[in-house]
Amino acid sequence: MADRPVADSSGFKQALFWTILNEARIAYALIDTSYRVVFLNDHYLQSRKMDAGYPLGSKCYDIANGGVPCRSCIMRDVLEKGGPCKILRKDILADGACTYSDDLAIPIRDAGTGDTKYVLEIMIDRTAEMDARERDFAVFLRIIDSLMRLLEEKDYATCRHSRHVSAISAKLTHYLGLGPTAVFNATLGGLLHDLGKLYIPDAVLNKMDRLDDAEYAIIKEHPVFTWVVMSGMSSFKPIRDVAIAHHERWDGMGYPKGVSGRDIPIEGRITAIADTYDAMTSDRPYRRAMPHEAAMAEIKKSAGTQLDPDLVELFVAMVGEYGHDRESLVEDNGYDSDALAPTSDRVRPPFAEDYVLYVRQQDAAVAESTTAGAGHTRAMAREAGIVTPDKSIEDLLASDAFIDAVLNSTPAYYSLVDDDWNVLYVSDNYAAFHGKPRGELLRGKCYHMVGKSQPCHLAGGGALCPAASALATGERQYSLLAEDRDGQRLYFDNYAIPTEMEGPDGRKVKCCLEILFDRSAEKNRQYAFEQDIRHLVEKLHNMLTEILPDVSANAHQIVREVHLFCDYLDRAASASGGGGNHP
Ligand SMILES: [Fe+2]
Repeated sequence: MADRPVADSSGFKQALFWTILNEARIAYALIDTSYRVVFLNDHYLQSRKMDAGYPLGSKCYDIANGGVPCRSCIMRDVLEKGGPCKILRKDILADGACTYSDDLAIPIRDAGTGDTKYVLEIMIDRTAEMDARERDFAVFLRIIDSLMRLLEEKDYATCRHSRHVSAISAKLTHYLGLGPTAVFNATLGGLLHDLGKLYIPDAVLNKMDRLDDAEYAIIKEHPVFTWVVMSGMSSFKPIRDVAIAHHERWDGMGYPKGVSGRDIPIEGRITAIADTYDAMTSDRPYRRAMPHEAAMAEIKKSAGTQLDPDLVELFVAMVGEYGHDRESLVEDNGYDSDALAPTSDRVRPPFAEDYVLYVRQQDAAVAESTTAGAGHTRAMAREAGIVTPDKSIEDLLASDAFIDAVLNSTPAYYSLVDDDWNVLYVSDNYAAFHGKPRGELLRGKCYHMVGKSQPCHLAGGGALCPAASALATGERQYSLLAEDRDGQRLYFDNYAIPTEMEGPDGRKVKCCLEILFDRSAEKNRQYAFEQDIRHLVEKLHNMLTEILPDVSANAHQIVREVHLFCDYLDRAASASGGGGNHP
């Protein structure tokens, strides 16, 4: 056995750095302050499907945006803010494939002047997770459509009214410029606001005369029932908060909670206006519909008592500006299960604000003018002799400061162990995650880090050790790791990559580089959603048997459809191995 390579020595870090650059499947680009690309690693070229290579020294937006400076540019953000920036980015590649990545940009400064000399861009693929998110969102919308068809089976007029309230709420929220999340909440909150009427007896719901006090008390329960249908499901929380508020009043005299003013969520105050307008302009069993103008006059009169006066003013302004009549106000601008895809303009998913869209139109001529293959990026930097006024890129790439930036700035945990399980390297963030000083971890064995007294694969209990598999097979291994910590379930994409490092005596030591990407937020969201849908199916089954025993065969069919979505999600989750970023 050769001596251990010396962690933190310059040569060791250099070797580790190049192993990560070449093996970690993380895209790195180094760009100077005039947007010229001075370094790309091989994975950058591969992930952008630029296998023919790329001429260094060209502008970054030549590769990213067909030669036009990007509308949203993380490079510009870094240069303006003078600190690191992060976005979730979406690229349409030349072949039409859509990819998502975490995109981080870190300023690399001149040690002397402190000026930013370069920006290091780091991209980690998140396509599988985002695909799962979009798939779940599509399922979510289909389920909402099923709920509306169930409501239609119960009472056609309530269903039609709900669609109107949704359409008006969407228009007003959009007019207020509140952003896609609010539009989403108001549109779906408006749509589902009367869902609780599924629980109201037909004799009360469809009574031809005015309701007596007892009947009115029953009707007033419906926002709470709406809440009940959507309770216990985190995916429905923003919508149910809106839905339960549609009979609250600005002056606090509404129901069910009696909250007032701005304590009512804004989307709830919007649906209250939409609900009031559509109720007045619709025929009811006991009265005829009011004309549009008369309803608008009533809405104005309710400002400051029943309705938010500012929102009423804006509603009136919107109606005037667009020349709306009732027909155009309640017009559904495309809400149906097919039209309401996550990218639809009218309703965008709540996460739409999270990412910046980059559309890449690769210019075929750029690819053809390439002078070197992807495998020669490092040599290209050297041969191209691209130099800054003070040092060459090659020197920069070799500098400890730059290597530390790469090793410690990526949102990934790195560790390196030899084939005797000695820990040769841990990144600072990984040591922090284990809550131990880095020096202590470096003196120990890897299994000590996870509280074991012998190697994981020997510790029994069928424990899987990706590092042991990687060292035994000589091939990279992927696994999804789960761990409970402080009452939270954490998930990591784990890559174990076999490699070799040089010991102090010059002999090669077999090692395994382990890289962990934290996927907890996305995995927990995904599992919570699947749990929500199962919970909903259970509720709908109970509703059919206990509350609506006489409903039509159609209603049972609708619930069966929702059930099928559970099976679909289960299949999709197992087909993708639980989601995540796969090798
Ligand atoms: Fe209502």
